[in-house]
Amino acid sequence: MKKNKVIVIGNWKMEPETPVLAKEIISSVSRQSRLLKKVEVVVCPPALYMGLFKKPANKNFFLGSQDVFWQNEGRFTGQISPKMMKASGVSYCLVGHSERRALGETDEIVAKKACAALKEGLRVVICVGERERDSSGTYFEFLKNQIRESCKGIQRRHLSSLLIAYEPLWVIGKSWREAMTPDNIRETVIFIRKTLSDMFDQTVATSVPVIYGGSVEPENTNVVLRGGEVAGILVGHKSLVIEDFIKILKSADEI
Ligand code: PGA
Repeated sequence: MKKNKVIVIGNWKMEPETPVLAKEIISSVSRQSRLLKKVEVVVCPPALYMGLFKKPANKNFFLGSQDVFWQNEGRFTGQISPKMMKASGVSYCLVGHSERRALGETDEIVAKKACAALKEGLRVVICVGERERDSSGTYFEFLKNQIRESCKGIQRRHLSSLLIAYEPLWVIGKSWREAMTPDNIRETVIFIRKTLSDMFDQTVATSVPVIYGGSVEPENTNVVLRGGEVAGILVGHKSLVIEDFIKILKSADEI
């Protein structure tokens, strides 16, 4: 991750339906990413499609995973180890996405996965975010606790490979009109940095990139990045729509 580059992560979730469609998106995004000056693009496909990515496509384009296991060895049917990820060209791992947490992943599991992947030299994106907001602001306490517990055990020397993705659950999968306002994003990012500062120190708090996800579309990419003062964005549904994802990349490159 180059300093001052905007990071745009596409999270494909359980899509697209066929490898043919996956290849189409990969080749368009890869072509576009070559032209970018200020953006690093990460695409996180379903694991089954990872082999479709040519390594290395170009210096702005990285392969990411949507999850990772916490062990490198042992009998664990269905899991993929950090070592396998690294050896297969994966650079970034999402850990603790809210949709995985909804399937039962706890903060403790998230922390174990993050530590194992960081040890293997992968860049880890820990996803956090509150389910809802209330007028009394208890979500701040929830967020603080989630960050603390999800980062438990991470060694200081690995912090330079850590990113935090703030994704409030109540805005995921909607339209840009319903996304969080830049002011609210900025306020939450300040809170996340304060939490990191209390856990580690001020240097860590300012150097760990904090990115935003939740209904980022071409229409709000610019305002989220500028007004939200985030280091990047995590894009779900629009990362599968070629024209829109390319618009998002271009818009981020103009920041
Ligand atoms: P969305 O998803 O862009 O569709 O809101 C973001 C995410 O779940 O990472």
